[in-house]
This record gives sequence, structure tokens and C-alpha cells, in this order.
Amino acid sequence: MKQDLSNFRKVYQKNVINFKELNNPYNLFDQWFNLAKKDRLIEEVNAMVLSTIGKDKYPKGRVVLLKKIDYDGFVFFSNYDSEKGISIEKNNKVSLLFFWPSQQRQIIIKGTVNKTSSSFSDDYFSKRPFKSQISAILSNQSEVIESYSKLKNEMDLLVKENKNKVLKRPKNWGGYIVTPFEFEFWQGRPDRLHQRVMFFFDKSKKWKFNILSP
Ligand SMILES: Cc1cc2nc3c(=O)[nH]c(=O)nc-3n(C[C@H](O)[C@H](O)[C@H](O)COP(=O)(O)O)c2cc1C
Repeated sequence: MKQDLSNFRKVYQKNVINFKELNNPYNLFDQWFNLAKKDRLIEEVNAMVLSTIGKDKYPKGRVVLLKKIDYDGFVFFSNYDSEKGISIEKNNKVSLLFFWPSQQRQIIIKGTVNKTSSSFSDDYFSKRPFKSQISAILSNQSEVIESYSKLKNEMDLLVKENKNKVLKRPKNWGGYIVTPFEFEFWQGRPDRLHQRVMFFFDKSKKWKFNILSP
């Protein structure tokens, strides 16, 4: 396999950050997220890359879906025994990354992650579609399986057995909440003179920002 991509070039000029209007990162996140939600070129605006440091000390990123945002943090759901779950158990310092190419925007968040309360996870689980609930019960996420067809058969069986039943959330599946301490916003601009703003929590527990060189 060989590909030369040296001529792949894009002009970035769609949006601009007005540095004078900046106050806190949640407002800017909200503003960007609301615009991205309306952008038809973005299929899954709530898809974000969650990066963790693994047992092997290597970083690993994977996409998860953001399900709630407020001033407490950013919530997603997963299997607590998965590779990411085990990584988080050992080191709860993580990053989240949103990339919206059609907006020429990237947001990177650093924070600490914790499990959400059981009642919050129960509530979300109860609202999932039936087959998604079954899938969460069945899947030992990140473990090696014998074959996909075997998994599919097990799924069909569980669906049959549990028809019309109210399913309980498996204890190893639930929510995580990331509490940010740093936000970096990147806006693509012409001639590679991109705009970057880094918000951080200062000693007085107030959000401050620096403008970074592209
Ligand atoms: C669009 C998309 C959405 C996903 N959403 C989730 C999610 O919300 N939760 C989750 O655990 N995995 C989700 N995944 C799968 C993860 O990327 C990953 O494969 C899985 O969580 C196992 O990761 P791990 O082995 O590093 O723990 C999603 C993948 C994609 C591509």
C-alpha cells in the first residue's frame, strides 16, 4: 500500500474566533456545538474521541457518544470492564476530542473521569431500545470472541427469552462523567494562521484563557 497525499490541501476560512467575546469555555462550547448540530454535513455531532492511558502506558483513542453536557461535565456510556474501563480504573485522567471538519473546528478537553451514579445509569439504561439493552447485557466489550455468528445467535436467543420483560442494567455497564479542567478550541484559518484558545482553571478557580500560536 502506498499513497502520496502531499498535494492534499484545504483552505480554511469558514469561521473566525472573536477573542474579545471570550469569557468562559462552556459558552464557547455551547455556541460551537449548537452550530455543529445545525450543520447537515455533520452526521454525529455528539461523537467524540475519548483518549485514555492504558495498562501498557500507551495512549488509546476511540469514539464514544456524548449523551449529556452540563456544568458538571460530559457524560458518555460504556462497559466498565472494557479496555477503556480498565484504563480509567488505573488512571482517570482523560481527554475528549471533537472534530467537525465542515466547520473547520476542533475542541480538545482534558479532565478527570468518574462513574455516574447508579440511579443515573439505571435511568438511561431503561430508556434505551430493547435490543440495545440486550446488546449491553450480552457484550463483554473488548474481549476476544469465538465468532461473530455465535454472538449473533446468543443475541437472538436472549431477545426471544426476554421478550416483554423489563431488563435490569448490568452492573458492569453505565455512565461516565468527564469533569474538564482545560479546553482548547481550534479554528482553521487561511494560510495556516489558525486560531487557538486554551481555557484553564486558575488558582482562584476561575476560567482564564491564553491565545496559542498555531
Ligand atoms: C460512532 C461511534 C460511536 C460509538 N459510541 C460508543 C459509546 O457510546 N460507548 C462505547 O462504549 N463505545 C462506543 N463506540 C465503540 C468504541 O469506539 C470502542 O470500539 C469500544 O468502546 C471499545 O473500546 P475499548 O476496547 O478501547 O474499551 C462507538 C464507536 C463509534 C465509531
